[in-house]
Amino acid sequence: MELIKKVEELKNEIIAKIKEAFDEPSLRLIQENHLSKKSPLNAMMSHIKELQGEEKASFGQAINNAKKEIAEFFASKEKEISDKKIQEKLEKEKIDITLPSIDYHMGGINPFYQIIDEICDIFTSMGYQVKEGPDVETDYFNFERMNIPSNHPAREMQDSFYITNTTLLRTHTSPAQAHAMDEAKGQPLKIICPGKCFRRDDDDATHSHQFGQVEGLVIDKNINLGNLKATLELFLRKMFGEKREVRFRSSYFPFTEPSVEVDISCMECHGKGCPICKGTGYIEILGAGMVHPHVLEMSGYDPKEYSGFAFGIGIERVAMLRYGIDDIRKIYQGDVRFIEQFKRM
Ligand code: DAH
Repeated sequence: MELIKKVEELKNEIIAKIKEAFDEPSLRLIQENHLSKKSPLNAMMSHIKELQGEEKASFGQAINNAKKEIAEFFASKEKEISDKKIQEKLEKEKIDITLPSIDYHMGGINPFYQIIDEICDIFTSMGYQVKEGPDVETDYFNFERMNIPSNHPAREMQDSFYITNTTLLRTHTSPAQAHAMDEAKGQPLKIICPGKCFRRDDDDATHSHQFGQVEGLVIDKNINLGNLKATLELFLRKMFGEKREVRFRSSYFPFTEPSVEVDISCMECHGKGCPICKGTGYIEILGAGMVHPHVLEMSGYDPKEYSGFAFGIGIERVAMLRYGIDDIRKIYQGDVRFIEQFKRM
């Protein structure tokens, strides 16, 4: 039959076109022109009404078979083209493992914070809790509760950055002791309080108007100066090793009685005397003492029953002595060349 031959010819023509398709757009064009409702093959369906019986059936079948064959051919070509595309993409995106890797820049942690962490590690391993006090303090906590009344000459050294007549940036971390004792309500205490302090000070190689301290406080029954000395010696040995010279000197603080100061042999001259240690061979790193009975009383402890020791460690001084930093100002300047030397391994 002439019509069936025509169908066959059309089918071969379309298949030949599909075979020639080489990419997605050319395939879509064939789909639009030859596989849609408006395609010449579909248009041939209109001849069906001219036919009868057997002829009608076999013509219909021929068209359906042709459509099916074309669809199959089209699907396999579609797959071939998409596989080829994936393959090309994979080849293009091959990773060259011989290329040098990207250099990720690792920052360092400022020694100020590394020292805080280390001090906290050492004391928490001895059973101390870490507590923090506020940077802005009242005159009452910063001075009065530390046994420094308004007429006390010890204020002269510390009267500094006032916010109002009665509030100021704390001049030491010691007021954190009073807050902790208030919270403890007469119970034993064993705490350290790291933080920043602010003081009117001439900025030089070992002084800054803003600096860090770690305050320590132990309160219990039968606490004595021997406990304080043993604790600080253990801390200093862990922080500086066995070889460093440690010196305890008697001193004075209004909130402790007796009071001591602790020096470490200078990182620059190792005890000989140089401009950094002002010729003394030592650098002071902490003040300490037995908590003054009046401080205990003001904080709700009976000094006949309870005693305690306290200490205040200068964070930058420890960092300087530990790492051999010759100028405290380097710690604050944010120079990456300096900070980078303190990358944690
Ligand atoms: N608060 C003192 C200061 O800033 C340091 C200090 C000395 C703290 C003796 C203490 C202490 O807890 O017992 O210089």
